[in-house]
This record gives sequence, C-alpha cells and structure tokens, in this order.
Amino acid sequence: MSFSVIYKITYPNGKIYIGQDVTDSINYFGSASSALIAADFTREQRRTFTVTREILWEMPDAPKAEVNAKEIEFILALRANDPAIGYNRWPQQRRFRPKHGNSHLQISMTTSRAIRIDRNGGPEELKLVQVEVGEPGPGEIRIRHKAVGLNFIDIYQRSGLYPFPMPLQLGMEAAGVVEAVGEGVTHLAPGDRAAYASAPPGAYCELRVMPARSVCRLPDAISFETGAAMMLKGLTAQYLLKKTLPAEGLQPGDFILFHAAAGGVGLIACQWAKALGLKLIGTAGSDAKCKLALEHGAAHCINYSTEDFAARVKEITGGQGVKAVYDSVGKDTFEGSLNCLRPFGLLASFGNGSGPVPPFNLGVLGQKGSLYITRPTLFTHIATREATQAMADDLFAVVESGAVKIPIDQRYPLAEVQQAHRDLEARKTTGCTILTLD
Ligand SMILES: NC(=O)c1ccc[n+]([C@@H]2O[C@H](COP(=O)([O-])OP(=O)(O)OC[C@H]3O[C@@H](n4cnc5c(N)ncnc54)[C@H](OP(=O)(O)O)[C@@H]3O)[C@@H](O)[C@H]2O)c1
Repeated sequence: MSFSVIYKITYPNGKIYIGQDVTDSINYFGSASSALIAADFTREQRRTFTVTREILWEMPDAPKAEVNAKEIEFILALRANDPAIGYNRWPQQRRFRPKHGNSHLQISMTTSRAIRIDRNGGPEELKLVQVEVGEPGPGEIRIRHKAVGLNFIDIYQRSGLYPFPMPLQLGMEAAGVVEAVGEGVTHLAPGDRAAYASAPPGAYCELRVMPARSVCRLPDAISFETGAAMMLKGLTAQYLLKKTLPAEGLQPGDFILFHAAAGGVGLIACQWAKALGLKLIGTAGSDAKCKLALEHGAAHCINYSTEDFAARVKEITGGQGVKAVYDSVGKDTFEGSLNCLRPFGLLASFGNGSGPVPPFNLGVLGQKGSLYITRPTLFTHIATREATQAMADDLFAVVESGAVKIPIDQRYPLAEVQQAHRDLEARKTTGCTILTLD
C-alpha cells in the first residue's frame, strides 16, 4: 500500500514550504535530498543545516486530485497568515524540475482580483474574489491584464446556456503584458504587449495563467483598451466576412444583412464590410442605434422593433434578397432572416441574443430556394496558433489602417461587472464594452 502525504518543511531562514509525496511506509521521513533544496541556500549551507519536516496529512492510495486539492488547502491556509509562503510544485509536476541538481522548483504565487460564479443564474451570481495565480506550465503564459473585454458569450456562460463546471471564472477576451512564459512558448516573451480571444474562460481578472496558443502580440499602435475590446468581436467579424461566405463568394457591391448592427461585433462588421465594398444592411433595436450603424458604414439600417425587416430588405434589394445573412439574434429573427435570402443564399446563425433557435425543419431550406445554413463559432476558427495569428494579423492591419475603428462605448470597473452584464442584456449598450482594472 502507498501513502500520499502532504508535508511542511520549515527552513532555517523561517521560510515554509508545503509539498506532497507518495511513500510506501506510513512512517514517512521524506528524502533529505529532495527536502534540503530550496533556492535560497548555497550548497555549503545545505550540507550543514537541518530542516523541520512535519507531516500535515496522509492517506492510503489517495486519488491524485484529492492530494492536489488537499495541498492547495494547506497552502492557502498558511498563506492567509503569511503571504510570503512559497509554493513548491514538485513532485506532481516533474517537468518544472530544473535540469541541474535535484531541487524543488520554488514557485511564487500571487493573488489577483477575479470575477467568478459558483452557480448559473443572473448577474447577482457574479462575485468578486481573490484568487491565487501560479507559474505557467508548458505551452502556457502568465499575463497581467490592462483591460478586459465584455462579450455576450459571457452572459450565456453565466446563465448556463453554455454549460461549464463550477466554480467558473468568466471572460474570454483581454489585453495586457506577458509576465512569464512556460516551456515551449516561442511566440511570446516576458514584457510583450499581448491580447487574446480565447477559451477557456477566465479573463475577468487582473492576472491569469492561460494557454499561449490564442494569445497574440499586440502592435504598439493599438492600445490595451482597444486590444481588449476588439479581439473576440473583431476576429468574429473577420471570419464571418472573409470565411463564412455563400457558395459564389461575396463581391464588392453585394448586399448582406447583419443583425444587431450597432452592437460590439456589429459596429466592427459595418466598417469592415464597407472597406470590402459590401453593402451592409444593418438591423438595430432603435432609431438611435440605426443612426450609429449608418455612421459606421452600414449602407442601410432597419429598426427591427418597429419595421418588418424582411419586407424592407426585399424593398432595398429590388425584390432580390441578399446573398448572406449574419444573424446573432437567434430565436426572434431566424425565420425572417431566411425570408431575406435570395436562392442559394447563406444564413450564418452565430448567436442567441434573443434565445436559441428552436428545432427546425430542413425542408424549409428547399422551399425557400436551396438555401445554405451554418452555425459557426470563433473557436473552431482559432483552434490553431497559425490560424489565430493569420486572422489577428488581418484584424490588426485593418485597425492600424484606420478603416475599422474600435468603438469603446462603455467602461465599467471590474468590481461593477454585474451592472455591465445587466446593461448588455438589457440592450442598453452600443459598440464594445470593457472592464477596467484601476
Ligand atoms: N459564434 C461566434 O463565433 C460569436 C462570436 C462573437 C459573438 N457572437 C454573438 O454575436 C452577438 C453579438 O455579440 P456582442 O458581444 O457584440 O453583443 P452586442 O451585439 O453588443 O449585444 C447584443 C445585441 O443583440 C441585440 N438583441 C436583439 N435581441 C436581443 C435580446 N432579446 N436580448 C438582448 N439583446 C438582443 C441587441 O441589439 P439591438 O437592441 O440593436 O437589437 C443587443 O445590443 C451575440 O449574440 C454573440 O453571442 C458569436
């Protein structure tokens, strides 16, 4: 039988380390060689001093997850009294062992404010907490955020429409400075300005460790706030307008319909479509929002709270209909969107602002003119580092050229994220929204 143990080592300089190990004897003394290590001592000192080693917890054949959880519990309890206490990750992550010697790798943990939910529900479930942030592992970076982007997907994850294990730290988009990079990360270095749209969630914080794959270096000409606001929404506009196309593609002069045109993705799409020579017909929930969409490059904008948008699209296109509809509103607009398409047209249903689209009879696509329908997500498009960088380069270029400006119309301090969610859900926002970290 083997025993998992959590131990505490007190060094002569007063520093305390918590570690874990597996032993075949309940009379566990630990190996002096692996205990007498920590970075602060010279080889000479290590030969002479003794350490105090105390077993805090032991359990026969404990599952690894339980041992890790127990270790963290002890560390957090000790650190509550003394934030200087180090975190010794060896041996459960042997890859962190330095090549020379048999030392434990000493990991400094820092705290960060973060927004988490313990269960799905309304904005009141968003809680400001302090979290521990460690070192990046292979393929990861640690990034200190300067600003965080707010997205409608955060609402789906909070409400439970897109389920995740709890507790969940929300947030899919941010910009900041890379603090540390893990093994194998070559495209980023400490000190780099960077921005990302990325799964897994967790961007609602000051500091995090995350996969490096979706994180891109941010050009100097683009501010952190702009970076935080534009990555998820801008990369979405990129893949919609450049890669989610009807069979015969889109040519300058073609009409497309883009719902929620005054929103975050919407105002970027209005400008980008114009730069591509497309005639974007927008929809929006008020006249003021329609005006905004027009100011950002929409060729037409229909107030779909007061007008039958499908009838108006037919009118604007001389009865032809559009080649493509980009619909993030979902349930409320789905049917009308199909009615706006010309034969062989494409409906890209990419969101559920009003609720998910209910089950659908495919035969309708035939009746309405051999239509195509797709349900794309950004995360398929940014599944590889190369694809992400290529899309980001395209986005950076269009923003740096001035053809697309990122409209940040709302800013909320991180602690006021509940209000930010309320406003986004209540359709009170326009353009992009960021969470600030001062
Ligand atoms: N699939 C993907 O890859 C992907 C990626 C990014 C975003 N999205 C989707 O794109 C959409 C836009 O995202 P965003 O973050 O930029 O949000 P947003 O457009 O700034 O906000 C959503 C907008 O949807 C409109 N809307 C219509 N009916 C609504 C309702 N019942 N409740 C709430 N809003 C309603 C509102 O504009 P009006 O008042 O003008 O109607 C609202 O402002 C979202 O649906 C999001 O999920 C999808």
